[in-house]
Amino acid sequence: MSGSAVDEYYPGLEGVIANETAIANIEGKDGSGGLEYRGYRIEDLADSVSYEETAFLLLHGDLPTASQLKDFDQRLKASRAIPEALVGLYKQIPASIHPMDVLRTSVSVLAHYDPDVSAPPSDHAANVRKAERLIAQMATAVAYRERVVKGLPLIAPDAKLDHAANFLHMVSGKVPSAVVRQAFDVSLVLYTEHELNASTFSARVTASTLSDLHSAIVAAVGTLKGPLHGGANEEAWKVLERVGAPENAERWIEDALARKERIMGFGHRVYKKGDPRAAILKRYCASIAREIGDDRWERIAEPIERAVTTQKLLPPNVDWPSARLYHYMGLGIELYTPIFAMARVAGWAAHVIEQLDHNRLMRPRARYIGPPAREIKPLQER
Ligand code: CMC
Repeated sequence: MSGSAVDEYYPGLEGVIANETAIANIEGKDGSGGLEYRGYRIEDLADSVSYEETAFLLLHGDLPTASQLKDFDQRLKASRAIPEALVGLYKQIPASIHPMDVLRTSVSVLAHYDPDVSAPPSDHAANVRKAERLIAQMATAVAYRERVVKGLPLIAPDAKLDHAANFLHMVSGKVPSAVVRQAFDVSLVLYTEHELNASTFSARVTASTLSDLHSAIVAAVGTLKGPLHGGANEEAWKVLERVGAPENAERWIEDALARKERIMGFGHRVYKKGDPRAAILKRYCASIAREIGDDRWERIAEPIERAVTTQKLLPPNVDWPSARLYHYMGLGIELYTPIFAMARVAGWAAHVIEQLDHNRLMRPRARYIGPPAREIKPLQER
């Protein structure tokens, strides 16, 4: 595109191809609306690889060998500590501040202490090192702030635990059961990457100015927070809570749809026939509900899901099941979106690195709809 004509305008950039990427494909191999990370179907990844293997796949281009995974795992574990200065800040930031805002600040502070802080923004190897450190540190940051707000002692990262179990342990002080650990790990795998969603796009825009990886992740955290994006998992939980009991669900959703309310956790800009991540996570919700012996939230969710899908033709997205999954795990509602962020950081970082490896400044145009050119009147005549 060149010249000054701004003929084609796509509100919300819907359908616009703004990047090439080798990281994720949300068309599926046959254009069916599936999801693949570097060619691997999400259904296969969810069933057979850990969050650590997924993060390695995104950052390094392929699934790790056993020895690559061992080294990667050791690097992550060695990077879990966060600076004392940041922990001190958690004690000073008012407890009422949302964890997503604190996480945004945390990434910014972590940048100052990163050993590669002075590396040039396009240094591929330094960016991979920064990304690996951030993956480990963001989990600790979310857990520590949560413990500080609750007035509880901090629980240091435990090198005997993997990424998923260690996070849950740092938050609650309990090592999760195998079923809970696996379900949480799967949720992280599903949240790790999703092509050019709003937060990834903002990360790539920031990187495209040759800014640094941490700045791009700060932008991404701020973008993820909104309820139309990552903030939807918190909002989806509020829907379930508002309904309160299975016998209220049908009536509630009929009324909400009649009021033309936007039902959080439903609909998607790209997937019109269903979000494959939601179907996977729904299975885990059912099995955890069975494990804890309480299917109340499943019975509330089901009629809502049926009504929105059949009446509005809007199937659930990943945030619909993840909200109740995290509730079953005893996680506070305000942790839901930060958990999304601490998983997605691997995807964001992979995109930032891809952007910086083949950079072109992102600078789109806007169609001007303001007043025509006019003269400035002297102050007394305005
Ligand atoms: N509930 C009710 N109506 C909806 C919903 C919904 N969740 N989503 C879209 N619509 C309606 C909307 O009101 C509009 O109707 P009308 O044409 O009569 O005015 C129509 O569908 C088109 O809406 P849109 O906002 O222009 O469509 P979009 O493609 O931009 O929507 C979306 C994508 C995700 C912003 C939207 O579906 C939505 O707001 N969903 C709820 C928030 C949510 O769950 N976000 C998570 C997205 S996926 C994972 C993630 O990023 O976290």
